[in-house]
Amino acid sequence: MKLSGNTILITGGSSGIGLALAKRFLNLDNQVIICGRSKDKLEQLKGEMPEISTFCGDLSASKTLVELQNFIETEYPHLNILINNAGIQYNYTFSDESEILTKIDYELACNLNAPIKLSALLLPCLQRQSQSAIINVSSALFISPKSSAPVYCASKAALHIFTQSLRYQLEDSPIQVFEIIPALIDTPMTKGRGKSKMSPDQLVDEFLDNFKANRKESYIGKTKLLRLLHRFAPSKAESLMKHS
Ligand SMILES: NC(=O)c1ccc[n+]([C@@H]2O[C@H](COP(=O)([O-])OP(=O)(O)OC[C@H]3O[C@@H](n4cnc5c(N)ncnc54)[C@H](OP(=O)(O)O)[C@@H]3O)[C@@H](O)[C@H]2O)c1
Repeated sequence: MKLSGNTILITGGSSGIGLALAKRFLNLDNQVIICGRSKDKLEQLKGEMPEISTFCGDLSASKTLVELQNFIETEYPHLNILINNAGIQYNYTFSDESEILTKIDYELACNLNAPIKLSALLLPCLQRQSQSAIINVSSALFISPKSSAPVYCASKAALHIFTQSLRYQLEDSPIQVFEIIPALIDTPMTKGRGKSKMSPDQLVDEFLDNFKANRKESYIGKTKLLRLLHRFAPSKAESLMKHS
């Protein structure tokens, strides 16, 4: 894929990995639209980068996804890259979480339903362009889950399989389907968790090399090793990740 001259929507582009992708793509002469729930965060970023476009909304709601589709069709009909990056992670134990049904619904809506639905809603727009891409951000936790976030791990495993299947379905279309599989990255999501994290910029460096070469799956940093370990010594990979 070309790295410049694209029109790119990045969900969750106001923080962490999404923001690093947004800044890099802006520097590479792309039109970038970012989306998040916090109006304040988006306004602050718009002040720092006036050339960026913003859309404020909670993507866990189908109504917001349709509003975003309308916004794109009206303002950015040349959109050719969708990056499904927005996500949340809840850590809790199933036996003593009082808000469990609400949390399950919200986490699945953000991490799984939103990327699937947005891909469907923006497909006609992406199909109109000569070269386009859907990029889904999953997680190393689909390879081996951890105990503290079962629903998060399940959402990422499902997103991985969805990405693979959609890639098959769109094989003969102008839309290429990519996946970023991050290791532990230093972002607000992982604040106070884990050691030896990669920076979001390091992730972007690795991903762009793959994107440029049309390599569909970007296993970032240590996820390459985890993938190998899981293939040849699955129980070792599982015990390594269980309490990560
Ligand atoms: N950091 C890691 O180590 C790591 C590892 C593996 C995978 N990932 C994945 O990478 C992606 C980005 O994570 P990150 O670490 O960069 O997290 P982050 O810094 O917390 O950023 C998450 C972004 O998503 C937005 N967002 C969250 N829920 C949303 C919703 N319902 N509607 C619209 N926007 C929403 C947030 O903005 P608002 O809060 O303003 O809505 C923010 O811009 C996620 O899918 C995550 O699961 C991260």
